[in-house]
Amino acid sequence: MRVIVTAGANGIGRAIVERFAAGGARVAFCDIDDAAGVALAAQLGEAVRFLPADCADMAAVRAFMADAFDWLGGVDCLVNNAGILVSKTILDLTEDEFDRVMAVNLKAAFVATQEAARRMIADGTKGSIINMSSVNAELVIPNILAYNISKGGVAQLTRNTAVALAEHGIRVNAIGPGTILTDLVRQSIFTSDDARRAVMSRTPLGRAGEPAEIAEIAWFLASDAASYITGQTIFADGGRMALNYTVPVRE
Ligand SMILES: NC(=O)c1ccc[n+]([C@@H]2O[C@H](COP(=O)([O-])OP(=O)(O)OC[C@H]3O[C@@H](n4cnc5c(N)ncnc54)[C@H](O)[C@@H]3O)[C@@H](O)[C@H]2O)c1
Repeated sequence: MRVIVTAGANGIGRAIVERFAAGGARVAFCDIDDAAGVALAAQLGEAVRFLPADCADMAAVRAFMADAFDWLGGVDCLVNNAGILVSKTILDLTEDEFDRVMAVNLKAAFVATQEAARRMIADGTKGSIINMSSVNAELVIPNILAYNISKGGVAQLTRNTAVALAEHGIRVNAIGPGTILTDLVRQSIFTSDDARRAVMSRTPLGRAGEPAEIAEIAWFLASDAASYITGQTIFADGGRMALNYTVPVRE
């Protein structure tokens, strides 16, 4: 399998690169963290290539996709994983911050999907595209306004492109993680013991998820085992979205 992953040097993206490489895939990934990208590619060997690119820059995303196609000789699976978070509400979020979150989380996924879909169709590849959504595509946290909006957009990008590309045999799905232990969560969500307790009190399984648990879903969605699944978001959230607000908060 020939796989392209955006933002694959750390966190969930890194776990996905590792999972696909372990499964025998060839993987090209981008990131802005050059040191981590170079180290990961060196660790995983010749089947994995790091191609530095900033997903806030659409020309860079298109160039990354072209370089990845050249190296892989096409593409069977694209994972749109890049995502950033700015902790501000409607009252203090700046236009630049709004634009940057939209660019990385939503527009880059649109651009990479367009490039991948065009290449898959030209090659006759019945491939698969996986978008990294979030429970925050559906639920609201007021101080992550731009993130909420971008992930809501990812939900519709997923459904729209699933229907548009179905006639070409290309499947498009998303993964909606709850709270997964990565730098994003350590730096922006688990900012204090109280914040950590608040999140865990609304997570029925009582723990944060691991990046590898999200990578397994990506592996499944890319495989023939998921051959009749398209247009779906699989939420891996420890039960959070099933929790009714009338259930007592767990201490
Ligand atoms: N961690 C969670 O709990 C969680 C929950 C729901 C959804 N997600 C989503 O999963 C995805 C990955 O999140 P994570 O927690 O692994 O994040 P992370 O912050 O741990 O890692 C993100 C990676 O993206 C890279 N990156 C940041 N900006 C970039 C840019 N402009 N261009 C290219 N690379 C860039 C970083 O260098 C890093 O390697 C995101 O789309 C995020 O919204 C995460």
